[in-house]
Amino acid sequence: MVDRQPQDGGNDQQALWDKMHGRTDKAGSLVGRSVVTTPNDLAVLVADSLAPTQRVIEVGAANGRDARYWAKHRGALVLALDFSQVALAQLDQLSAQAGVDTLIETALYDASRDTLPAESSSADVFYARSSLHVDDARLESVLLDAHRVLRPGSLLAIEGKHPDDPKILRSTPVLEDSPHLVSDPFDEDHVRRVWEPDFSRRLLESTGFQIVELEVISDQTEHADPSIFTRILASSV
Ligand SMILES: C[S@@+](CC[C@H](N)C(=O)[O-])C[C@H]1O[C@@H](n2cnc3c(N)ncnc32)[C@H](O)[C@@H]1O
Repeated sequence: MVDRQPQDGGNDQQALWDKMHGRTDKAGSLVGRSVVTTPNDLAVLVADSLAPTQRVIEVGAANGRDARYWAKHRGALVLALDFSQVALAQLDQLSAQAGVDTLIETALYDASRDTLPAESSSADVFYARSSLHVDDARLESVLLDAHRVLRPGSLLAIEGKHPDDPKILRSTPVLEDSPHLVSDPFDEDHVRRVWEPDFSRRLLESTGFQIVELEVISDQTEHADPSIFTRILASSV
């Protein structure tokens, strides 16, 4: 693991995620998101195109169910990023237990302000599932940075909540002039990005990507809550 030091004095969403990742039951065992070990469907889809030693950059890796899957089943080299130190510590521990710690590097990274800690044209996949909770202007910067680190023709895979998702429908915009960033009053003011398909397509095309697939999917991996996601696969041009 590198760069354990947070770069600012505080961030409410970061604190909220640290708390969620660290939840334990009375016996001290991790609960909720932290015990999920099966990979997401999108991760399995991405694995089809991965060869050993290919490099994946994952933003919002949490405790690494997808990162560990690519490392274990594809021999991929994963740079697993998250702004939660709690989640990355779990990821390091779990990848050591799974015997894939030499394939997975973890680093603190905040999508709302940091530059990806990777060389230009060094990665084969950029992956972010349910983690790029940033406004439109910042998302443009993140996508340009993703384009920088990807080799030409590489894969970008993003999944994020669709405007019709139940949690989005009950949320309200964080700022008046930022309709795609919303806060959920029924979930501790959890901030999420809304992945409106047409807007997302236009932004990706203007930041150097060619859309391969853009679809709306139902997903129930988040425990009992049925979710609606926008899934985007794109190629860096
Ligand atoms: C809903 S979880 C998704 C985890 C995993 N990608 C998955 O789909 O199973 C969101 C993850 O993104 C991280 N995250 C949220 N906002 C972030 C930000 N601004 N920068 C980096 N990571 C962030 C959280 O700590 C959390 O691990």
